[in-house]
Amino acid sequence: MSRRKIALIGGGQIGGILALIATQKELGDVVILDIPDFENPVKGKALDIMELRPHDGYDVNITGTSNYEDIAGADVIVITAGVPRKPGMSRDDLLDINLKIIKNVAENVKKYAPDAFVIVVSNPLDAIVYAFYKASGFPKNRIVGMAGALDSGRFRAFLAMETGYSVQDVQCLVLGGHGDEMVPLTRLATIGGVPATELVSPERLAEIEKRTRMAGGEIVKLLGNGSAFFSPAQSAMEMVESFLNDKKRIIPSAALCEGEYGINGLFIGVPTVIGAGGIEKILEVKLNDAEIAALKVTVEHVSAVVAETGL
Ligand code: APR
Repeated sequence: MSRRKIALIGGGQIGGILALIATQKELGDVVILDIPDFENPVKGKALDIMELRPHDGYDVNITGTSNYEDIAGADVIVITAGVPRKPGMSRDDLLDINLKIIKNVAENVKKYAPDAFVIVVSNPLDAIVYAFYKASGFPKNRIVGMAGALDSGRFRAFLAMETGYSVQDVQCLVLGGHGDEMVPLTRLATIGGVPATELVSPERLAEIEKRTRMAGGEIVKLLGNGSAFFSPAQSAMEMVESFLNDKKRIIPSAALCEGEYGINGLFIGVPTVIGAGGIEKILEVKLNDAEIAALKVTVEHVSAVVAETGL
């Protein structure tokens, strides 16, 4: 059996870590593609990772390129092409520049890897994944945005930090757009199967919810020159792995809603089942009135940003 192929479009901060994690999980051969000006740096990253393999024995190949012909036959593609935000910027401020980039990427992916499962990471996530969908014509089960995995992961991390219990035993779900109006479903969070509401005070839960919504910005401020890259890469790789190994993990992702949660024609964070068929299903959870109202706010926000794409 030949090895699977993972193409990374954009080989910056997140792209480099994606390549490292894919290698360390031996998920398949990795191609890192960037613009011609960045061809040497991605070749350098690829070679650097090739040279770390002997220490723990990862038998996969990593290459860097700026030639789209090299992504042919990719099973899965993760797109981080674009610019990240700087302190003081919102994700929406990246729209103009990243929209141009994603249109170009979509045309090339459609031409060279039309059968791949595509995960978009570039921001503003919900609008950029929508733009890829429109520009590529990919079927909705093979195009998804990575955001909910990261947002839920942050929520999980904060709950584990709060309680001191294993992060492995914390489960929760964040719905909605990848912005400050996202909706952490605290009511459904569990720690070792026990509702988090029984283990953490309502005041602290409210603070953790708020920190989750603003977590991307917290890191942007600390880094000073860019946005988070380790946790976004790990989150996207979780999705890649579920697809390649047909794990059918339930991962909140920005999927095209066509009636689910009363949302029509938008990519927005909802619980999805990811397996060999890509986005195999969107799970519909019954929400209470407050959650429905909060979801409405984030949907309106995403809808406004998507309208700005003109697509
Ligand atoms: N095709 C391919 N790669 C591109 C293109 C393009 N048309 N345009 C830009 N790139 C590359 C850049 O050269 C750079 O190497 O995308 C890479 C982006 O890397 P970083 O600037 O390090 O950004 P990163 O932190 O990886 O974030 C990427 O993900 O989380 C989002 O908001 C974040 O939109 C940003 C994206």
